[in-house]
Order: sequence, then structure tokens, then C-alpha cells
Amino acid sequence: MTTDRQGARVIVTGGSGGIGAAIVDRFTGEGAQIVVLDRRPLVRTDPDRAAAVTDITCDLADPADVRRAVARAVEVLGGVDVLVNCAGIFQSVPLLEITVDDWDRILDVNARGTLLMMQIVAPVMITSGRGVIVNIASMAAKHGGGGEAHYAASKAAVLALTRAGAQEWGAHGITVNAICPGYVLTDMGSDTRSEADVVAWTAKSPLGRLGCPDDIAGVAQFLSSPAGSYLTGQAINVTGGMIMH
Ligand SMILES: NC(=O)c1ccc[n+]([C@@H]2O[C@H](COP(=O)([O-])OP(=O)(O)OC[C@H]3O[C@@H](n4cnc5c(N)ncnc54)[C@H](O)[C@@H]3O)[C@@H](O)[C@H]2O)c1
Repeated sequence: MTTDRQGARVIVTGGSGGIGAAIVDRFTGEGAQIVVLDRRPLVRTDPDRAAAVTDITCDLADPADVRRAVARAVEVLGGVDVLVNCAGIFQSVPLLEITVDDWDRILDVNARGTLLMMQIVAPVMITSGRGVIVNIASMAAKHGGGGEAHYAASKAAVLALTRAGAQEWGAHGITVNAICPGYVLTDMGSDTRSEADVVAWTAKSPLGRLGCPDDIAGVAQFLSSPAGSYLTGQAINVTGGMIMH
């Protein structure tokens, strides 16, 4: 299944951040109606498109808050055609130093937050007999994750949820896919990013550059378009070739 873009009803978590905001831009450019669920407000750059976007403040680490916010989003949109789970948090720390609190914090947002969003939104899609879910994972889910083991584990969990959702809900006309971005220059990781990191990761891409948010947004758009309707359960690298498996 996929949607006609004009008037498509779309929820984007993390839509106020780098990649999420680019996804919001892409979808509003096609005439979609968007609800952004984020813990911080969206900075609206294009006043012409502002009317198409509703902000609902939500902490994805808080299950009750997620239920409240999604119920409101479904009410605002009158249904959901596309769900993009993009909110996420990152921390750079050696494996031996990850605390239980670190683990819980990262997993609560990245993995459990995605689980809850899928669990709450899928029944709405099942009722309408169609839907598209796009989960933003990471190359860390496949690459290993030295220095970010809990983050990598949370994104591997997102891939598992993606495959399970694809298997369980395909019969209801719902596709579930994941995008695994490479290194994208956003606020994420900027507190620990060094010039040497940028140079090293740039060198890993045969294309010789880091990703930009719109690289990811274009693939999210494709997955929710008719051209992407026969993909489900996939974990698609958008890494400029930094990883190829
Ligand atoms: N930037 C990268 O290099 C990169 C690489 C691979 C994967 N990703 C993934 O892409 C997604 C977007 O990342 P980004 O780079 O745009 O980061 P970002 O920090 O720019 O944006 C993340 C957004 O998620 C929101 N968010 C975080 N925690 C939240 C919570 N508890 N409740 C509600 N909203 C919350 C933030 O407010 C922010 O708007 C994330 O899932 C991230 O793991 C990013």
C-alpha cells in the first residue's frame, strides 16, 4: 500500500530535529498533513507550509505521554496513513562505562518509544486496511557500535521491530521498513564530535562526504510512495557506502 501524497496523514516523531525536520519538509512539499511529536517545538522555516504541520509536545520515554499524544494526533489528522519514527538519542561512551541508567535512557527512547508508537498507530492503520511505517534506525545496528554499544543495541531492536511488524501486519496492507542512516551532520552527537571524526567518517564513504538530512528524507519519501510499495521488512542503508551490508 501507499498513499496519495496530497492530503496524506503523517505522524513524524522527532520532527523538530535535523533528519525529522527534513522529512517534514519533504512531506509538506507534497501536500501532506503532518503531526510532529517531539519534546521540543518545530522551528517553522516556511510559513506557507506551516499550516500543514501541528506540533504536539511529547516525551517518548514516557508511555502515558505517548498514548496521550498519539490519541490527539489521530484526532487532529482523522487517521494515519504514514508513521515515521525518527526521534532518537545518542551517547558516546565505552562499553565498560555504560551504566544501567545510560542503557535504560537510550533504550527507553529509541527502542521502547518505537515499539509504543508502532503498537498504538498500527491498529488505526489495520482499521483502514493500509499504512506505511518507516523506522529510522542506524548503520550502528549493523556495524557493531564500538563506543556506542547501547545505542547500537537500541537500533538493532528497531530493526527487529521492523521485521516483526512487516510480518504481522503485511496482511493488513501495511508496509514496515527501516532506514539505516550513516553519519549525518545534525545536532545528534555534536557535543562529542571532533574534526578528526568528521574526516575519518568522510573517508569511509566512497562518495567522499557525510550525509545530510535530506538524503534520508528522500528515501523516507520513496518508501511511502507507490514506487516503494513492494518493500517491507527491509533495513535500507543510506550511508553513502560507509557500510554495504
Ligand atoms: N545524525 C546521524 O548521524 C544519525 C545516524 C544514524 C541514525 N540517526 C538517527 O536518526 C534519527 C534522527 O536523528 P538526528 O540526527 O536528526 O538527531 P537530532 O538530535 O537532530 O534530532 C532528534 C530529534 O528527536 C527528538 N527527541 C529526542 N528524544 C526525544 C524524546 N524523548 N521524546 C520526543 N522527542 C525526542 C529531539 O528533540 C530531536 O528533535 C535518530 O533516531 C537517530 O538515532 C542519526
